[in-house]
Amino acid sequence: MLFAATLTICIITGNSHSLQAASSVGKDTLTMITSPDYPPYEFYDTQGGERKIVGFDVDIANTLAKELGFKLQIMESDFNGLIPALQANRADFVMAGMTPTPERQKNVDFSIIYYEAKDTIVAPKTSNLKQIQDLAGKKIGVQLGTIQEQNAKKISAKVPGIQLKQLNRVPEVIQEIKSGRIDGAIVEDTVAKGFAQANPELEFTVIPSQEASGSAIAFPKGSQLVEPFNKVLQQMKDKGELQKLATKWFSQTTATKTTSTPTAKGGLNLDFTRILPDIPFILKGIPLTLLFTLLSVFLGLIWGTVLSLCKITGIKPLVWVANAYTSVFRGTPLLLQLALVYYATPQLTGYDISALEAGVLTFTLNSGAYMSETIRGGIQAVDKGQTEAAMSMGVPYRLMMWDIILPQALKNILPALVNETIGLLKDSALVSTIGVVEILRSAQIVGANKYIYFEPLLFAGLIYYVLVMGLTKSASVLERRLRQSE
Ligand code: ARG
Repeated sequence: MLFAATLTICIITGNSHSLQAASSVGKDTLTMITSPDYPPYEFYDTQGGERKIVGFDVDIANTLAKELGFKLQIMESDFNGLIPALQANRADFVMAGMTPTPERQKNVDFSIIYYEAKDTIVAPKTSNLKQIQDLAGKKIGVQLGTIQEQNAKKISAKVPGIQLKQLNRVPEVIQEIKSGRIDGAIVEDTVAKGFAQANPELEFTVIPSQEASGSAIAFPKGSQLVEPFNKVLQQMKDKGELQKLATKWFSQTTATKTTSTPTAKGGLNLDFTRILPDIPFILKGIPLTLLFTLLSVFLGLIWGTVLSLCKITGIKPLVWVANAYTSVFRGTPLLLQLALVYYATPQLTGYDISALEAGVLTFTLNSGAYMSETIRGGIQAVDKGQTEAAMSMGVPYRLMMWDIILPQALKNILPALVNETIGLLKDSALVSTIGVVEILRSAQIVGANKYIYFEPLLFAGLIYYVLVMGLTKSASVLERRLRQSE
């Protein structure tokens, strides 16, 4: 549930590099938050390496913002994090093909409906799942927090033996069908159509009994924006502009752009040409990953040194605090620390910490704990004679540490530090869970867009491997240099 509220990197339409928090934006800008896993409503356009969220909803939002004289900024989150984001005032409105339901209306305000959709059953053609009765005894996937999840629950009250599997993103749901872990899924018609076109082994059937569910824009309770938005929406409806956008996005789905070959069940045919145009997009995650890793290593080293010095001072309270700190940060999962720092900081301090900042802070705190032990070992391994000599010559403690002991300790522990850096580099993939679009997350976005999974992930794996190899090589060069300078 924590990760669901994945607020992330903001993307000012057209300018994809700004890392800004919603609250820091001036009043001339409206912040929309969406869950870009939902082509053709909203999804990442990865062609040419640009990080841009596009789709039916985004077009409408742009028109609304323009008509009302605002600039538009788009943030993303998993679907079930959208309403919490509004409640935390991290965004001005949600557009995510969201249907007004009584429960949601208790927490947010809605605009008028701008598009009607129906639920469908998506399943492999061979399985013949076409009506809700067919779902008896089957494993059915839905996106967490959606009305499809609720509807599936209602259906399972009538049809016996349905097992539900809730996943964070729609592409994951589709992937689970393809790998045979679930038998089918409940997905909205326009979205289902795109996935079925890209995956010829899948088909979808509209569930007839289901009443249509419309999409509307959600706002924080009491928002001043509801009225002006409704006015413009109504105008767009009357002028047929909405219909035009619907035709643009819904008649030619993005899926048709991909040349997906059906994968025989059980077989795995990899085709990297499918992700060729998206490679620049994935590569763009590298600088962020490197920046993140180097910053965390550097700060972690400083923090670890401070901690290790505390540990060897012999001053009881310092020793105790440093040891307690280390045991807490080594004794709890890094992923948990990351989520806590990211989600708790705004509540505890009022500071709206960005995902990247939260990542660097957590990794620094965590690796500091590990490094402090390594450095302590390194310091204690320096020959006692060095300390005694320095002391007998009257060198002050601080100078002795800085000039004599620490440099020798660092030289000794270099291999351990390289290990730590490699670990951090790979663990940096964890920050994708709070929405930093680094290498792994970029690969997942491409996968979601192309309705495929393995190729982008394998490619991401290759990038990590090459980076780690580069790191190892440069470390051994450094080590050789240091040894020669002895
Ligand atoms: N219309 C459904 C709902 O409101 C599903 C929306 C899912 N949207 C998304 N961007 N994934 O629950």
